[in-house]
This record gives sequence, C-alpha cells and structure tokens, in this order.
Amino acid sequence: MLDGKVVLVTGAGGGIGKALALGAAKAGASVVVNDLGATLTGDRQTGSAAQAVVDEILAMGGAAVANGDSVADPDGAEAMVQAAMDTFGRLDACVNNAGILRDGFFHKMSFEDFESVIRVHLFGAFNVSKAASPVFRAQESGSLIHMTSTSGLIGNLAQANYSAAKLGIVALSKSIALDLARWNVRSNCIAPFAWSRMTSNIKVDSPEQEARVAKLREMKPEKIAPLVNFLAGDASRDVTGQIFSVRNNEIFLMNQIRPIRSVHRGEGWTEETVASHGMPALKGSFTPMDVSADIFPWDPV
Ligand code: NAI
Repeated sequence: MLDGKVVLVTGAGGGIGKALALGAAKAGASVVVNDLGATLTGDRQTGSAAQAVVDEILAMGGAAVANGDSVADPDGAEAMVQAAMDTFGRLDACVNNAGILRDGFFHKMSFEDFESVIRVHLFGAFNVSKAASPVFRAQESGSLIHMTSTSGLIGNLAQANYSAAKLGIVALSKSIALDLARWNVRSNCIAPFAWSRMTSNIKVDSPEQEARVAKLREMKPEKIAPLVNFLAGDASRDVTGQIFSVRNNEIFLMNQIRPIRSVHRGEGWTEETVASHGMPALKGSFTPMDVSADIFPWDPV
C-alpha cells in the first residue's frame, strides 16, 4: 500500500511510534525515524533510539533514516522534513506521535510541567506539520496523522497539561484539514490505546485501576499500524478532518463538538430566567463528568 511513499514518524524510537515506523516500512514506505531518545518526562537520555529502529528496518530489507531532533524545536522539525527530502527526495505523510507525560493533579501542576507537555505535543504537531506543508503544497498531496488521546477527547484525572495539548491537536488537525484541502492535504487524528511506557505510568491505587491496567497490557502498539498506513496512503484521499480511535481490534470514529440542544426566549434572558428556565431546560442534556474508562468499560476485543 505504501510502495514509493515516504513517511516521517516522530517519537519512533519506542512504543507506538516504533510499531508505526516498522509497520510503514513493512507496507513498502521509506521511513524517517525521528526520536529524541527522551525519558517519559521529556529529558534527553539516549541518542541511539531512532538509529536502533532504523537498523531494524534496514535488516528486514527496508529503507529508513534516523533523525534525533526534538519536535518541540521548529528548526528540528525542519531538519526532519529535510532528512526525508535529502535521503528519499519526497515526503508523503507525517505521523505526529512524539510525546511525554508530566502527570499531576491540577492544583499541584507547575508552569514548567504544563508548558513542557504543551510544547512537545501541541507545538510539536504544529512544528512538524508546518515544516511539511511547503512540500505537501508543492506536490499537491500529503497526509498528516496526529496522535490525540481520550484524555483530551473525554477526560482523565491528573492530566490537565496532556488533555489540553491533546484536544488542542484535534483543533489544529481540523484547521489544517480546512486550510490545506485545496492542495489535497489530509489531516486526521487517532486516539490510540496501547500498552507502552506511557500507559505503564498510569497511577494504580485501586483494585479497579489495577484491573484496567491488566486490560491495557493486552493492547499491542502494532494494532495501530493498519489505520495509520491506510491514512498515509492514497486510498484515504477522501478522509480528512476526522478523529479515530484504535483499541486492539476495534476502530472507532469519534464525534466532534456540535450544539446538542437550544433554549430560546423571545424577549431575551435575565439571570433569573437563565436559572428558572434556561438551565433546567438544558440540564437533561448535560455531559456527565466521565473519564475515558467510563466510556470504554468493556474489555478490549
Ligand atoms: P512512549 O513514551 O513509549 O513513546 C514516545 C516517544 O516519543 C519516545 O520514544 C520519546 O523518546 C519520544 N519523544 C519524546 N519527546 C520527544 C521530542 N521532543 N521529540 C522527538 N521525540 C520525542 O509513548 P507511546 O505510548 O508510544 O505514545 C505515543 C503517542 O501516542 C503519544 O503522542 C501519546 O500521547 C499517544 N497516546 C498513547 C496512548 C497509549 O495508550 N499508549 C494513549 C493515548 C495517546
């Protein structure tokens, strides 16, 4: 499906990104494997994470090149795209996958923990998409695939920084899809579920959470690859501005925010009528205070 295509995967030194880089290579793509070699909280720890995945791809007869820049750095993002152009002469898809976690309850979250997570996820997705856009516009095609999360789409405790970044990515993706449609550039999001270093960091302080983590362990990162490969290839030319989720063998299409109920008074509103009429009329349609696990309570299939 991806013969002749060039795919950049960020944060591909481990976890989901590694599975996506290997999956793209198996489908015939040449791959730019980016990874800073970061710890879970974003500190640089090894320069060899990307190269190790490149070596695996080369060993199976594929084509790949490593890049060790940070997605949070605009110049680094330019260098990733340049690596694709210099090595393979084109770029067809970018998978914005690099990520870090700095979890903590809101009242304990520092400015630095908020900023660093936003910088890697949201600014990172912007930087890489921005760097790829001149190439995509010139060739009048391209696909951006951004990893979002049900933490942002639905909610999760102790992840205000991460949730804000991940829902920001959804709006970024839709905006890119609208702005670059005339050059046939697609932009879609995937909320993956997979057992990785990131999910192994989930706080387990109740038997319920322990049971949930046991279920998460069953979900392999490789399960995300078929949808990513489809979105990277030409068969997805009509698919843009969407939010998908992959959880083991299930693929979900997620909804997007639209008005669900309205209430009107011909003479306009006062604080009193908002309280006596408006709010009671709307209340039946309020969104519950769900977290992701409330919406996906069944075992992965
Ligand atoms: P991971 O922690 O295993 O991998 C993330 C990779 O990104 C690491 O190899 C790290 O070195 C790299 N990285 C970190 N900062 C970077 C930077 N500034 N520039 C370049 N590379 C950088 O995490 P995992 O689980 O594989 O997550 C991949 C993506 O999927 C992330 O965007 C994450 O938010 C998202 N996701 C994962 C879920 C899961 O169930 N594992 C759930 C929802 C979303």
